[in-house]
Amino acid sequence: MRNVTVDNITEVFAAYFGKDTDPRTREVLVALARHIHDFAREVNLTHYEWRKGLAMLEHAGRITTPERNEFVLFSDVLGLSSLVDMMHSNPAATSSSVLGPFHVSNPPPLEMGGDMRRDYGGTVLLVEGQVRGTDGEAIPHAKIDIWQTAPNGMYSSQDPDQDIHSFHGLMTADETGHFRFTTVRPVEYTVPSDGPVGELLDAAGRHPWRPSHLHYIVTAPGYRTLVTEIFPDDDPYLDQDTVFGVRDDLVMTYHKKPSSDFPEGMALSGKVSEPYLHVRFDVILSLA
Ligand code: BEZ
Ligand code: FE
Repeated sequence: MRNVTVDNITEVFAAYFGKDTDPRTREVLVALARHIHDFAREVNLTHYEWRKGLAMLEHAGRITTPERNEFVLFSDVLGLSSLVDMMHSNPAATSSSVLGPFHVSNPPPLEMGGDMRRDYGGTVLLVEGQVRGTDGEAIPHAKIDIWQTAPNGMYSSQDPDQDIHSFHGLMTADETGHFRFTTVRPVEYTVPSDGPVGELLDAAGRHPWRPSHLHYIVTAPGYRTLVTEIFPDDDPYLDQDTVFGVRDDLVMTYHKKPSSDFPEGMALSGKVSEPYLHVRFDVILSLA
């Protein structure tokens, strides 16, 4: 096609596809081009703005490492990660939420009743729950991969003072799907904002804060893997999470309890002398 115009460029793009292109690939790429072209026409995108956008992507490429993926962060703060999550969530199961970049592979085992707090100060948080299917049946021996920030608001991979497995643990639920462990109450923190994502947040007058949360990946044979988080209901950033990860069913109350209520059978039993917090979070998985 020689006479490409402002109005026909999307059709010309679609016509350039090879005959044997995978139909789904074609559908996705043509829709992507259509929306990009419509976007440029709608805002009358200037050369300056187009170059600025490309420079931000180039900057993202330069600073992306296995530990810090700026492209995923763009997807998170633009709401794309959460939109894809929500579109494919089963309403009968626990909502999924953003994975984020701070999960580590091969987390250390966390025994039933075990403690992730180690020598850190801060209020003890006792977390317990049960993993069930959407039919209400317990799922025995589900695996729960848990991670969170230290009380200084940093994940282990961000903090030279923590070993890489600090505040990471892999628990196996018992035969009735129950799990319990202790940790320290997580704190709210900012997503990395010293790169182009920070520039975008600044330009939009947005802050980089996330409400405090515990991350979970829950897996069991025959069930869909669930990537999720839980949030305390008194966090000041619940209604303004910069990555749009909060869902109603993921917000829980952390109940304050006297130390005399601390149960037996935990790694910290007999060692808790201050009031502690207790939260129950049941996880519902859908069939694969
Ligand atoms: C996190 O919760 O760890 C996270 C999620 C999205 C972007 C950055 C961090
Ligand atoms: Fe996080």
